[in-house]
Amino acid sequence: MSEKVYPVPAEWENRAFINDAKYKELYAKSVSDPEAFWAEHGKRIDWIKPFTKVKHTSFDPHNVSIKWFEDGTTNVSLNCVDRHLATRGDQVAIIWEGDNPDDSKKITYKQLHEEVSRFANVLKAKGVAKGDTVTIYLPMIPEAAYAMLACARVGAVHSIVFGGFSPDSLAGRIEGCKSKVVITADEGLRGGRKVPLKANADAAIAKTGDIVKTQIVVKRTGGKVAWSEGRDVWWHEETAKVSADCPPTEMNAEDPLFILYTSGSTGAPKGVVHCTGGYLVYAAMTHQYVFDYHDGDIYWCTADVGWVTGHSYIVYGPLANGATTLMFEGIPNYPSISRFWDVVDKHGVNIFYTAPTAIRSLMGAGEEPVKKTSRKTLRLLGSVGEPINPEAWEWYHRVVGEDRCPIVDTWWQTETGGILITPLPGATKLKPGSATRPFFGVQPQVVDANGGVIEGPCEGNLVIADSWPGQMRTVYGDHERFQQTYFSTYPGKYFTGDGCRRDADGFYWITGRVDDVINVSGHRMGTAEVESALVAHPAVSEAAVVGYPHDLKGQGIYAYVTVMEGIEPTEELRKELVAWVRKEIGPIASPDVVQFAPGLPKTRSGKIMRRILRKIAENEFGSLGDTSTLADPTVVDDLIANRGG
Ligand code: PRX
Repeated sequence: MSEKVYPVPAEWENRAFINDAKYKELYAKSVSDPEAFWAEHGKRIDWIKPFTKVKHTSFDPHNVSIKWFEDGTTNVSLNCVDRHLATRGDQVAIIWEGDNPDDSKKITYKQLHEEVSRFANVLKAKGVAKGDTVTIYLPMIPEAAYAMLACARVGAVHSIVFGGFSPDSLAGRIEGCKSKVVITADEGLRGGRKVPLKANADAAIAKTGDIVKTQIVVKRTGGKVAWSEGRDVWWHEETAKVSADCPPTEMNAEDPLFILYTSGSTGAPKGVVHCTGGYLVYAAMTHQYVFDYHDGDIYWCTADVGWVTGHSYIVYGPLANGATTLMFEGIPNYPSISRFWDVVDKHGVNIFYTAPTAIRSLMGAGEEPVKKTSRKTLRLLGSVGEPINPEAWEWYHRVVGEDRCPIVDTWWQTETGGILITPLPGATKLKPGSATRPFFGVQPQVVDANGGVIEGPCEGNLVIADSWPGQMRTVYGDHERFQQTYFSTYPGKYFTGDGCRRDADGFYWITGRVDDVINVSGHRMGTAEVESALVAHPAVSEAAVVGYPHDLKGQGIYAYVTVMEGIEPTEELRKELVAWVRKEIGPIASPDVVQFAPGLPKTRSGKIMRRILRKIAENEFGSLGDTSTLADPTVVDDLIANRGG
């Protein structure tokens, strides 16, 4: 690992909200007296009824309870929209850049207020009330932000499902939270190709019985879609019928704002629940300090609103701060591999936040497509979603940022609501590949296999010792699973599922997941989900899935498959299985390698030894470890002899 160090540039020390001395002072305060620290910073959002209580949290694994600002009331859309009207009504809130470079528009805070209020009235007219859930399955169009904020306005809880998920995955998520309203578009548009969102949503709804009463459809492409009278309505027709006046509903700080399904080690994806007050305070504060956002800056996060990054750092954090946030419908290589940088130049982007997988794929196309653009407005770069390898970091810094833009490598998770470990550009020297230091109020610890806290430079598992306001509150409908998943491995601490190293400077280096979650191009995938999709195929009797290092994706999906008696493991079947998983879960879950295996390495008690499968997938046959406990050690020889990829 590179230990090259980039000091904080002098101009950054002067211009940034937080320099190193300030970081140290505030960080010390935030952990020695969290009550006082967050009492002050909780005031950064507007409250309808101000809170008098600040922190009320317990990580006791049998009784986890997380409450912040619990007697305060507010509304998230009030904070992201209404409160800016007096001071910046005519400022651009959202710059929308379409898939086609000729297609873009700007939405001011005044316009945003009208759009959100109208759509909130549509939701009310469809019977959506405080506490109801609404499923959103939209492409990257402004209506996605309007729909989120409209839900918040009426007190409904949104559950966004990424547009790349299959009808089956969507159906599971609609059922999981019993949404009677689904919001989608006729078709999405990505890289010039159409995505049949309405058709997918129709198929999903058909699988969920009579849960869904209303489907609201945005006309994006005008493509032909099936229509179910009485259930399906057009967004533009409904919003034209209602008034543009919709006062925000008063919500308690601890009322849920959204559910977001995410993959874990076992079972079906969990509904991560985030609430109103603490989440917004944390998203807004991290957005301001990590990206050093000043009034007038143009900020672009390339994530999709279907992931948590889109929630916290395209919509809620930036809009709570009155920022101008850019929303991009397309992909990095359409119509050309210079697209990101063309968009930066077109809109004068100052702050750019993307994923290592995008950097690695652009790196592959060389420097010329970057260098032919100006990028002179860029000041700060960010990275999120997976460990960034030092080579990609250096390229991002040197080629994209022309050695002048610091990179904030932000470590966090769907569960954490906002960034937990990150450099602050005016305060933190940078080491390529390190997420560096904790944000205010965050207390990381490194533990060994027995749960003992390790001090000083070390390597182990990453836990967080105490709560922060943006933390998830529960797993939707299953608090026991929440306690079990995150607080039982190291009782009394939040277990992240990540491994890490801490160096002599106290900097953290995230080394990746230590559980059965894999990270494919920054998308989180449970190996168990892919396995259950595979065994649902009639030809498959058993499957085991592991991650392996992949140059572009970070990790690839490696599937070992045992076929049913009498079935021939052919090349056609291999292709069919890949297509099957795409259909069952979505393209992001496509296995990169399918290896047919007559047997899987199991202990005598029948437990699959994944450690061995991982080593074979990684091509590390020399370090398979002890295989003598296997029921049939010879299966390993066959697996090695027939390694795929
Ligand atoms: O393994 C870590 C990795 O992504 C996981 C969280 O995934 P998800 O909930 O989908 O959220 C992604 C966007 C916040 C983490 O457990 N991860 C995320 N950011 C980084 C990272 N790994 C290393 N460095 C990062 N900056």
